[in-house]
Amino acid sequence: MTSEVTTELTDGVLAVTLSRLDKKNALTNAMYGVLADAVQRADEDPEVRVVLIQADGDLFTAGNDLGEFAEQAVGKGPAELNVLRFLRNLAGATIPIVAAVQGKAVGVGTTMLLHCDYVVLGEDAQLTTPFVNLALVPEAGSSYLLPLRIGHVRAFQMFALGEAVSAENAVAWGIANVAVPIAELRTEARRVAKALATKPLGSLKATKQLMRDPQRLLTQIDAESTVFAERLKGAEAREAFTAFAQKRQPDFSKIH
Ligand code: COA
Repeated sequence: MTSEVTTELTDGVLAVTLSRLDKKNALTNAMYGVLADAVQRADEDPEVRVVLIQADGDLFTAGNDLGEFAEQAVGKGPAELNVLRFLRNLAGATIPIVAAVQGKAVGVGTTMLLHCDYVVLGEDAQLTTPFVNLALVPEAGSSYLLPLRIGHVRAFQMFALGEAVSAENAVAWGIANVAVPIAELRTEARRVAKALATKPLGSLKATKQLMRDPQRLLTQIDAESTVFAERLKGAEAREAFTAFAQKRQPDFSKIH
């Protein structure tokens, strides 16, 4: 258990809050464990009618903890990767999920949004999926979901160049519902979550299930995980993680 992700149930809304401010909410295995449990609980606990994912601080999340990636690359990772449990729970979730996103949402910070049902962005939001910059590949089913959502060329641009998508474009492209002034982010996300919590839950769940194909998503997540795990151990990824730790740009030019 970690205090870097908190959960609070109010009026049927299970708020799940990332709070690891000194590391820009970078997600550790322990944090993924709380996230995975929260989504599972939400699907099982009759008191929970909506999940609201949000984050403290000036950005949503810097994505997976890169120190932990580096450890996993040399076989020092945990026996069970909670990230996979979290992603599988997200892919299979039947309960509605709302997200409130300010500032940068890096990597899984963006790809988890593709599993949410209503996404509220702060006007300063910047969505990035810099998997290729890290010599990795997309995860969380995003290699399937992102092209489906925004088209191949935009998705390739996001994955391959790792460039940030603004809140305005994210709404225009259909990644998010709305962008609001940052001061209104939490209020607006909670307003939507509370409105959903008053709806007939059985009908909401049935609607969500008809709109999604969890089996297809799980198959994609498994395929991505296999390639991701291989790439994690490679020389290119090692250079990317070392460069981040040394606060320099990576140099892939000598790796063949
Ligand atoms: N994993 C581990 N630590 C991270 C991290 C990550 N993904 N992102 C940031 N941190 C740490 C930094 O190492 C730094 O720690 P330190 O104070 O001990 O040196 C601290 O968080 C603050 O980060 P910093 O880079 O100084 O903040 P910033 O506001 O200048 O930049 C980001 C924020 C998110 C743009 C930048 O930290 C970044 O690019 N992080 C890596 C993102 C990434 O590639 N994630 C993986 C995606 S798959």
